[in-house]
Amino acid sequence: MRKSLIVGNWKMNKTIQEALKAVKALKNEIADVTDIEILICPSFTSLYIINNEIKNSNINLGAQNIFWETKGSFTGEVSPIMIKNVGCSYVLIGHSERRQYFYETNKTANKKIKAALLAGLIPIVCVGETLREKKENMTFKIIKKQIKQNLVGLAIGDASSVVIAYEPIWAIGTGKTPTSNQIEEIHFFIRKIYDEMYKNVAEKVRIIYGGSINSDNISEFMKKSNIDGGLVGSASLETKVFSRIIKYSRF
Ligand code: 13P
Repeated sequence: MRKSLIVGNWKMNKTIQEALKAVKALKNEIADVTDIEILICPSFTSLYIINNEIKNSNINLGAQNIFWETKGSFTGEVSPIMIKNVGCSYVLIGHSERRQYFYETNKTANKKIKAALLAGLIPIVCVGETLREKKENMTFKIIKKQIKQNLVGLAIGDASSVVIAYEPIWAIGTGKTPTSNQIEEIHFFIRKIYDEMYKNVAEKVRIIYGGSINSDNISEFMKKSNIDGGLVGSASLETKVFSRIIKYSRF
């Protein structure tokens, strides 16, 4: 059985004080949730204080990015060990915004995934097609390439702990989403690729969806057997909305 995972990606939002306030409120709202794994990914600057706040709670901590080297002269970068040391158990890798604005590629994502695993972090690997690729019916081809290139060289044990996030770029921050059937079809396809790459791993891997998730559409998505959770951007910034998403099954 795969435990569902709901992630709040706060992106470049919230000061330390704002982040602390939000996490305190979230802790209360979702204290009795046991069926969903809850993860928040704040900015680097808030990780330390949030880690103190969520100790003994059901909230897990993740970073939004790492560099692949362990230490050295890499001005402005943060290493996987530092992220683990500040209390994170997860890290987002290859988010489309990193690919779009910071020129990350499948190759750099692959290096970061390996470095994350080595430091004991679980990578959440983001894949997804652009609007142009969707219009040109290239979605499946692109996803296959991204999965294969991002995971190249990963040992079977590592491959089973990775989380895949399918985030169609045209759905991020636009209010548009694929239908739950379309997402299910792509997640099933990702599982099939996994099955071709690794023996007996595909059924263990969690594949979550991201892109304009809100408290109205989440339950439809979560009905599907291959949708194992959500990666939530803007709707995770409002505690009330985010906790409603986490507790979707009660509404
Ligand atoms: P939105 O939920 O704001 O569309 O963002 C999705 C996302 O990029 C999560 O990583």
